[in-house]
Amino acid sequence: MKTRWYKDAVIYQIYPRSFCDSNGDGIGDLQGIISKLDYIKSLGVDAVWLSPIYKSPNDDNGYDISDYRDIQEDFGTLDDFKELVKGLHDRGLKLIMDLVVNHTSDEHMWFKESRKSKDNPYRDYYFWRKGKSDKKPPNNWMSNFVGPAWEYDKTTDEYYLHLFSKKQPDLNWDNPKVRQEVIDICNYWFELGVDGFRCDVITYISKEKGLPDGSFKEFFSSMPLLGFTHYCMGPNYHKYIHELNLHAFSKYDTMTVGEASGITYKDAFESIDENVQELDSVFTFEHVSADMILQVFPKKLNFVKFKKILTHWQELPKTSQPTMFLENHDQPRSWPRFVNYCWDNKEKAAKMLLVAMQMQRGTPYIYEGQEIGMTNVNFKVEDYKDILTTNVFKKVGNNKLLMKFAQKVFLKRARDHARTPMQWDDTKNAGFTSGEPWMMVNPNYTEVNVKQSEKDPNSILNFYKKFLAFRKGKDVIISGDYIPYYEKNKKLFVYNRKLKDKAYFVICNFVNKDVKFKLPKDMKFASAKVAISNYEDGEIGALESRIIKPFEATVYEVQY
Ligand code: GLC
Ligand code: CA
Repeated sequence: MKTRWYKDAVIYQIYPRSFCDSNGDGIGDLQGIISKLDYIKSLGVDAVWLSPIYKSPNDDNGYDISDYRDIQEDFGTLDDFKELVKGLHDRGLKLIMDLVVNHTSDEHMWFKESRKSKDNPYRDYYFWRKGKSDKKPPNNWMSNFVGPAWEYDKTTDEYYLHLFSKKQPDLNWDNPKVRQEVIDICNYWFELGVDGFRCDVITYISKEKGLPDGSFKEFFSSMPLLGFTHYCMGPNYHKYIHELNLHAFSKYDTMTVGEASGITYKDAFESIDENVQELDSVFTFEHVSADMILQVFPKKLNFVKFKKILTHWQELPKTSQPTMFLENHDQPRSWPRFVNYCWDNKEKAAKMLLVAMQMQRGTPYIYEGQEIGMTNVNFKVEDYKDILTTNVFKKVGNNKLLMKFAQKVFLKRARDHARTPMQWDDTKNAGFTSGEPWMMVNPNYTEVNVKQSEKDPNSILNFYKKFLAFRKGKDVIISGDYIPYYEKNKKLFVYNRKLKDKAYFVICNFVNKDVKFKLPKDMKFASAKVAISNYEDGEIGALESRIIKPFEATVYEVQY
């Protein structure tokens, strides 16, 4: 039944609110996506991952779901959805949906029932607890969106748990009825033709028994949040996911990828190994934290650490599938972030980042707009929409100094940088909408847009297409060994991908300068020729000993 098609698939992520608006209300929608299917196909990707499109009051842009079986009105109807599935499948593209089941919206029927009384049949779908005697929440856990993770509800004089906003109450997975609901939801969408799920904050679903207080040690764990170690990869995580796999994921030819912040290498492997039947892959976040302190404050990219992390995940046994990404809807834009904010030579740098990531083993992801080099925005305080940012501003707003600091941090890190409307052309609002966009368009759309990129043979976009076509179907890339070189080098990212007597040798220069390169001594081969590069053939020297050009990415095909 399982073909493991994701082993040679590139996945394109769409943030539906910001992709394309078909009816002029300023909000992207399903018909908008349908109108761009040929564009998506032209990239050479294999599947689309849609951020949530279910009914939602939009406290966290759809990551707060009030009905798992229907489509948010802003986005369209179930009929539009069916048309989208058909449009994708007709073009040979798969569809991955976002499965957000660590929590629901507080406007979901289950929660509305659950808050009514202590003996309501839905009460145990969530975590309701008495406060501590001194009018304090049941424990000291902190929400990922600022403040305590508990909200007091006077109807029953108890608190409920919410690891995200107070409009996102956490589901109690220890209740078998909750787990059955999730299974049913998955099967409902599989029956409608969905090919897989990206599982939102899946590592948080099993909470430690007794919900013990967090300790200050956690500020030095992988996430600086009180309580984190008591809900991340909790005691029943593996059991619950296995159950979901048996009763839903394994019944269709699906793929799953779990959002797995805080997961250890061992747990990751134990969850994605082909023999355990849990998930097919996970997103891990250490590499996108290599330019941060405590996951929050930006600093210079630690390039050697960045390579080391990526290499570590490449070493996962071949019976498990790594993932590669630099952008998503929670991350700032990757260029020029990962070249230490060097604003020059953009085209070369953005193409180099693509090669550096995607020549690795695993399933690569591209986030909408990444393929044309969309960038962070110079937001003013009032431009931000994201609940995380606006909550922080509310919290520190009275303190001028803290406010200034927060603004500085968000100019680099805010999630909103990834959420500005897709830049289609240079007409008003970048061709995203004929109305007023729900969120500001990056003013650079007059230069950075799809139409312009399609015309320019040297554009980032055209290189993406060329590279994805090159990548497709190559055994060496799909399953070859990954052998890193020059691991301590502060400028070059060098690795070899080898399978039997064939290899791709990858050299990427992360600085905008010439860098001397000598072939590692143990590299002996019969021949090497350039397979793909972001420079012209004539500009590249022989492999043995050469100068690597500014932001160059060259892949040599090696024969042993
Ligand atoms: C995940 C999503 C993020 C969302 C959060 C809560 O981290 O990627 O956008 O805010 O979960 O659902
Ligand atoms: Ca619309």
